[in-house]
Amino acid sequence: MDKQNSQSTPGKKMTPSAIVSYFDQYVIGQDEAKKTLAVVVYSHYRKLGRRQSTVEIAKSNVLLIGPTGTGKTLLCETLARAIGVPFVTANATSLAQSKYVNEEIEAVLLRLLDRAGGDLAKAERGIVFIDEIDKLKSTGSQRATSGERVQHALLKIMEGAPVRLGSTQSIDTTHILFICAGAFVGLETITANTHAFGFISLAEADNQKILDRLNSRVKPTDLFEFGLIPEFAGRLPVIATFKNLSKDMLLKIMVEPRNSIYNQFREILKNEGVELSIEPRVFEQIAELAFEYKVGARSLRGIFEEMITPVLYVTPDRPEIRKVVIRSLFEDPVFITDAP
Ligand SMILES: Nc1ncnc2c1ncn2[C@@H]1O[C@H](COP(=O)(O)OP(=O)(O)O)[C@@H](O)[C@H]1O
Ligand SMILES: [Mg+2]
Repeated sequence: MDKQNSQSTPGKKMTPSAIVSYFDQYVIGQDEAKKTLAVVVYSHYRKLGRRQSTVEIAKSNVLLIGPTGTGKTLLCETLARAIGVPFVTANATSLAQSKYVNEEIEAVLLRLLDRAGGDLAKAERGIVFIDEIDKLKSTGSQRATSGERVQHALLKIMEGAPVRLGSTQSIDTTHILFICAGAFVGLETITANTHAFGFISLAEADNQKILDRLNSRVKPTDLFEFGLIPEFAGRLPVIATFKNLSKDMLLKIMVEPRNSIYNQFREILKNEGVELSIEPRVFEQIAELAFEYKVGARSLRGIFEEMITPVLYVTPDRPEIRKVVIRSLFEDPVFITDAP
């Protein structure tokens, strides 16, 4: 195995702004979260690349908070691609439902090793993404107790520990970056109630903006009140919040990213020799509808597919069709054929 290669620290080559530029190609909006994540990742991999360490820099695992379908998972997947490190996803809910939490965690790390092509050194610099972390909250119920158990188990590997994988290998999690994510429904209320910056209240709009930002910041004590154990919350020092997507952002998501839904279906139809043209108004209609569904960008694809299915059904039987125009979500598509 190429030692040089396995020891490389990809983040060193990409500055935070370069990482954000890469994000921008795939993820719409969420500028704050993009910057926060880019800085953490840059510092993390930069630290690993240092020749000698005089000052021990602690690892900054990250917590992503935000409504469903706003790009948390997408941003992490994009990140892993950007910096070229092995990346795995785990789900906190299924960890909590398992009887054998430690075995489940081992399985996650084994998958990471697998993604690294069996290169242990590479895996030990990878990223583990744990979704639905808010489902581990403890409230005293039966289910919550298992959540707390999982928090303790995760705490250990997030701090950094050698974990045995099978009988022959062990993986050191010290330099693995953990990114946790969750919707944390109800946290806004806790955060709003625990902040007292309001009394500074000032007339100027700029100052108000700063206050609003301070007020919307999530504190570790808020997470504790929400139901995370303090040690666990303490292991997630960096918090990035994701905002609800506006109609305008939903519209952009359909057309702007490199692999946008529009581009994907244009490609599919191009392979059939058909040009797809959708008028701007249609995207507005879809965005409007998706906004009502309140699941972020998650409903976009479903609505889009429903609209496009009749087209995909017809075109393979009718080779004379060379173009399809969709003018409205509520009108039949127009098929343009070769002149006879
Ligand atoms: N900000 C965004 N920019 C581009 N696409 C997005 C964005 N947010 C969500 N999407 C789309 O919605 C899908 C679901 O988003 P995901 O990242 O899984 O949401 P969650 O925040 O629940 O993890 C993604 O696969 C992507 O297609
Ligand atoms: Mg997700």
